[in-house]
Order: sequence, then C-alpha cells, then structure tokens
Amino acid sequence: MFHDRELHRTFYSPARNAGTVFVHSAWSGTPLKKVAAAAPGSVWCQAAIWPDQRLVDKHLDRAEEADIPVLVLAGDVAVSSKRERDLHNGFTMQARPSPRSVLNAATKPRWVANFLFGPKITFGDQSIDGRAMNLREMGEFMHDDNDAVTWNDVIRIRKRWRGKLAVKGVMNAQDARRAVDAGADAIFVSNHGGRQFDAQPSTVSALAEIAQAVDGRAEVLVDSGIRRGSDLVKMRALGATAGLIGRPAVYGLVHSGEAGVAAVLDILRDETATALAFTGNTTLNNLNASALAPSSCASASSGA
Ligand SMILES: Cc1cc2nc3c(=O)[nH]c(=O)nc-3n(C[C@H](O)[C@H](O)[C@H](O)COP(=O)(O)O)c2cc1C
Repeated sequence: MFHDRELHRTFYSPARNAGTVFVHSAWSGTPLKKVAAAAPGSVWCQAAIWPDQRLVDKHLDRAEEADIPVLVLAGDVAVSSKRERDLHNGFTMQARPSPRSVLNAATKPRWVANFLFGPKITFGDQSIDGRAMNLREMGEFMHDDNDAVTWNDVIRIRKRWRGKLAVKGVMNAQDARRAVDAGADAIFVSNHGGRQFDAQPSTVSALAEIAQAVDGRAEVLVDSGIRRGSDLVKMRALGATAGLIGRPAVYGLVHSGEAGVAAVLDILRDETATALAFTGNTTLNNLNASALAPSSCASASSGA
C-alpha cells in the first residue's frame, strides 16, 4: 500500500524496464488506471474481497478497463495482525501524536512538510460517494474490509473475471489443489512476508509440496523472504515459475528512489545468474530439486 503518487512510479518503471511486473495493491494511493497506462502489460492488480460485493465488482470493472492481464486475489488475511512495534510507535491509520512522535517528527521537517502540504494521503480507487476518504475513514475501511475469503468467493471471481487469475496466500497442497479446481491460472504461495502471522511456516518450506500438488496445471508464484538471487534459484528448483519481492524494492526505494529499486532488480538478476551457474546449469528451465541436493554441490565443486 503506497500513497505517494510519485512513489508508485519508482516501482512500476523499474519493473517494466527490467521486463518484470508490478502488482498494484487494492489499497493503493494511485488509481489503477493511471499506473496501468504508464506501464502497459507490466501491471497486475490485486483484488480484495470487501463485504460490499459491489465494491469488488467495481474494482474488477476497473481492472478490465485498464487491460490488466492478471488479477491477484489475496485470500489469506482475514484479521488484522498484532504488530507490537507499530503499536509501540503509534503507527496506526488514526495516529495519535505522543510527545515521542512529535519529537521524532521535529527531526524530520521535510517529511512533515510533505505530509502536511504534499499530495493528500487517500485511496486511489476507493471513495465515499465520489469523495476522497480521509485518514480516519481509510482506517475504518481497512478495518471493516477484513472479511474471510471463501472458496465461493474464488469461484465467483473466476466466473466474473475473464483474464488470468492468481490466488495468493496458498500455503498447503490441499488449498493449492482446490484453487486449481476453482479455475486459478496461478497459485501464489505467500505468507505476506511473514508480516501478518509470525508463527506461519516459510514459503520455501511449503513450496515443493504445493508445486507437486499443482503438477503443472497452473503456474506457481512465490514470495516472502526472497532477498538474494540464490533464493530465486532455490524457489525455482523447488517448482516455482516465478518469484516476487516486496520489501527489497522498498529498501531500494528508501536508499535512492527509482534508481534504488532498479538497482535491487539488477542485483537480483546478477545474483540469480551467479547462483544458477553454481548449480551447474545455464538456464532456469532445467532446474529441479536435484540442484539443491548435496550430490549436485559435490559434482559442481569437483568440476570447478
Ligand atoms: C509495506 C507493505 C505493504 C503491503 N501491502 C500489501 C497489499 O496491499 N496487498 C497484498 O496482497 N500484499 C501486500 N503486502 C505483502 C506483499 O505483497 C508481499 O506478499 C510480501 O511483502 C512479500 O514478502 P517480502 O517483503 O519478504 O518480499 C505488503 C507488503 C509490504 C512490505
């Protein structure tokens, strides 16, 4: 969820230039139409299941109008997580200034000026009677939207959406099979970067079993914890078609804006090539779990 309009450009431009995709959040601060027009073909979009079905349908209409090729239905965050650091730091949608936060803000005048006088923080596509939501309303909307996604929702969205459908948040073989049976074109293995429920297993530990269950009937996407090209190689070897990143792009952004995001993608690309070479392969297409087995390490190193 990113609110600054310019901030968005810093993500989708490098993604497009690197030949990869950017997934637009359903809670984005920039309208989907605008992002999609800026990077045609490189933007996928998230669908959320809001209690008011009309909002969901409206979002699908927007996606269709924007020629979005892939809809990512996030089905896994039915409740808000307890983020103690956020609570401790007063980082909430309806932030209440404390002496500590006021003191902290005083040391960041540029941030404060941008917050007060820069583009208003609001949703790009969600509004109340055509009026942009304020922070309090956004907080309420996000809180109210936490509705458990059911298989009926997946089936309904599948019927309604003509493009490709990825179901995000799948963490076991049974759900993967069910999503494929419901018509998903891609299973998106994700635990939201472990940011929602820290007792959840890692995606890399769930991946092989899920890929096996899917058995080529759908693409297998994965995210959460990918930090190195070697992570991408491991995910690929365990059956993923593609790996996606969340926070690494944000870290690049914080470091040096759009150039930082582009650098993160470059680094990942280079590291992937290096890690691939160490498995003894020249293409990602041939990778399988044997690339991670001790015997292949032995043969790779004996050939070195
Ligand atoms: C700041 C932030 C905002 C996010 N917002 C959304 C969101 O609106 N919708 C969604 O499906 N996932 C959201 N995610 C989760 C990411 O899409 C992704 O699953 C996760 O970040 C991947 O893990 P990684 O950060 O370890 O790469 C968000 C993640 C971060 C860090």
